[in-house]
Amino acid sequence: MREEQQVEAALKSYEDVDSWKTVIFLYNAALKEVGTKLEILNDEFQHVHKYNPIEHIKTRIKTPESIVKKLKRYGYETSIENMVRYVNDIAGVRLICSFTSDIYRLAEMIGNQSDLKVLSIKDYIKNPKESGYKSYHMLVSVPIFLSDSVVDTKVEIQIRTIAMDFWASLEHKIYYKFEGNAPEYISRDLRECAKMVSELDEKMLTLNEAIQECIMQQESGMIPAEHA
Ligand code: GTP
Ligand code: MG
Repeated sequence: MREEQQVEAALKSYEDVDSWKTVIFLYNAALKEVGTKLEILNDEFQHVHKYNPIEHIKTRIKTPESIVKKLKRYGYETSIENMVRYVNDIAGVRLICSFTSDIYRLAEMIGNQSDLKVLSIKDYIKNPKESGYKSYHMLVSVPIFLSDSVVDTKVEIQIRTIAMDFWASLEHKIYYKFEGNAPEYISRDLRECAKMVSELDEKMLTLNEAIQECIMQQESGMIPAEHA
């Protein structure tokens, strides 16, 4: 048996196979609901403002191995009940934006969706992690309408800029490579890069605002196009 199948079997041995399948089915449905919702918001924004706040959307379901690993780390025994209660990121959506301003705009739009319940928010942009990690996390629940019931299902939404995503994916690789114990000079360099990422994000935002200003002035005929 492959490792993944072994883990799945371990999870399943606690309950019946049906409830494992049902739970994964619900998380997949929740990902579809939230993914579509976000695409519609992005399309509407494009329609109204001629601008896409979302560069791209990534969705994923957590693997059985990492679900079990997380339960162990939290000190809970492996059961479907515990996984539903304590593992908040079984269904995950990552939104990648160009500018930090897009992040807060999106967070607000998500918060205003009346069928989504925002369960918690972690703003690692205003309060970056020790590692230098920056991102805006929202834990939401979405109602999944079944033939005879409605089940609120949790989805973790991570919103970050392209630059923050670039940093996080490299840091993630390094973290795994050294199993959380990277040499000090690597951690230091990573924190240094995180600072550069923040500076780059700030510069790009300012630059974009200047460009928008020029376009507006040009459109209102305040400056001739060749000088704009
Ligand atoms: P876990 O860290 O997932 O156990 O849950 P938590 O409740 O502490 O949530 P938190 O918001 O801290 O982190 C959730 C997710 O954010 C992680 O699974 C990663 O995807 C991402 N993340 C958090 N911290 C870091 C970090 O330092 N580096 C990277 N690359 N990703 C991080
Ligand atoms: Mg954590």
